Amino acid sequence: MLPVRIIARKRDGLELSDAQIAQFMNDYASGRIPDYQMAAFAMAVCINGMSVSETAALTQAMLESGIRLNWPADSGIRADKHSTGGVGDKISLPLAPLLAVCGLQVPMLSGRGLGATGGTLDKLESIPGFRTDLSTDEIIRQVVDLGCVITGTTEQLAPADRRLYALRDVTATVPSIPLITASIMSKKLAESPDVLVLDVKFGSGAFMKTIDQARELAGSLVRTGVQMGVRTTALVTAMNQPLGHACGNVLEVSEAMDVLRGAGPPDVRDLTLRLAAEALLAAGITTDLSEGCRRAAKHLEDGSAEERFLAMAAAQNGRPDCLPPPAPAHDVPALRSGIVTAVDTEAIGWAIVAMGGGRRLATDRIDPAVGVNMHVRIGDAVEAGQPLLTQHTRHPEQFVDVLRRSIMISDDDAAPEPLIADRICGDDL
Ligand code: URA
Repeated sequence: MLPVRIIARKRDGLELSDAQIAQFMNDYASGRIPDYQMAAFAMAVCINGMSVSETAALTQAMLESGIRLNWPADSGIRADKHSTGGVGDKISLPLAPLLAVCGLQVPMLSGRGLGATGGTLDKLESIPGFRTDLSTDEIIRQVVDLGCVITGTTEQLAPADRRLYALRDVTATVPSIPLITASIMSKKLAESPDVLVLDVKFGSGAFMKTIDQARELAGSLVRTGVQMGVRTTALVTAMNQPLGHACGNVLEVSEAMDVLRGAGPPDVRDLTLRLAAEALLAAGITTDLSEGCRRAAKHLEDGSAEERFLAMAAAQNGRPDCLPPPAPAHDVPALRSGIVTAVDTEAIGWAIVAMGGGRRLATDRIDPAVGVNMHVRIGDAVEAGQPLLTQHTRHPEQFVDVLRRSIMISDDDAAPEPLIADRICGDDL
């Protein structure tokens, strides 16, 4: 069928067959369909949506635009986690080595910061020497030898997504659940995982602002994973305030190391353990979540997860003992007493980008030393003059107002919301 007729069917809200979607994506990947036709198709999908089977066909076609990691026959159960991203989300750093010491193989291919949210690769690159550009062969060798790797995706994995994502970015077609699903899942499925755990975030610091949007995305991701034969579970988690205290690359690496030593903020530790337990449950290593959490916690307490992180860093040339110091610290005190009722997490994320901790242009260089350490959480009582947060920057006067305004203090009471709001498991669909 001519590409223009496929676009017209989608424009008219008609269902596309697997063959039509495969043909359209193959022709795009091989350059026979130009960007302007793909942009029209993406907009038609954005407006009319896609059925479950269309979304699976799109994911499959994007996956087949590249290679899949090819593992030795006797390698173990492979698991990965994907987060839709937030401010202060450093969970991947302790989770990958933790899953590896629990007996899983973890080929974690991660991304860079997007908008106001930080990226795992940027955090790891604040460790002097840490390589995040491993080749496909290096990824496979390291996972087989050590059990885990965290690195960037390669040119050969889901290349159609790379092109389509750049096009969506400039044609207002990013916020579409089927397009987001195919984009995320094609990259994850290219790792050939057996188990996938998804952390779908909602709230002021997340891509999805409401819990209903996050539930819908989580359902779409889980259904697609299951259709492709991967044991998939999603947690829907709150991002209405930063995760943990540390936000900013070097600060977050230090906090992640604290978690690996059995300490760290309770929310970061709890979410790390719960995501680990979900992966262990799906892999059949444990039969219940509490036992999975206990088993994972033991590896944080006994130093084995930290040891595995250090071995992973060394294998990737990183020297975590030489972390650069944070930029100079300046407290931001409260102007009034009251209760913290809300946090504009996105504003904190953008302030860190403006300090140099993220990118406004793809070519921007990151300053790993800048960031923010939060001292209060929603529901806390504060006194005037008490530090709400500490900013680490060489230009504190530039950010003090925006950071202070990002923490809402009032006379009302505010109950802290649970971090894990929902769980969507492939087995229950
Ligand atoms: N992250 C991705 O990888 N793709 C999207 O479409 C959105 C977020």
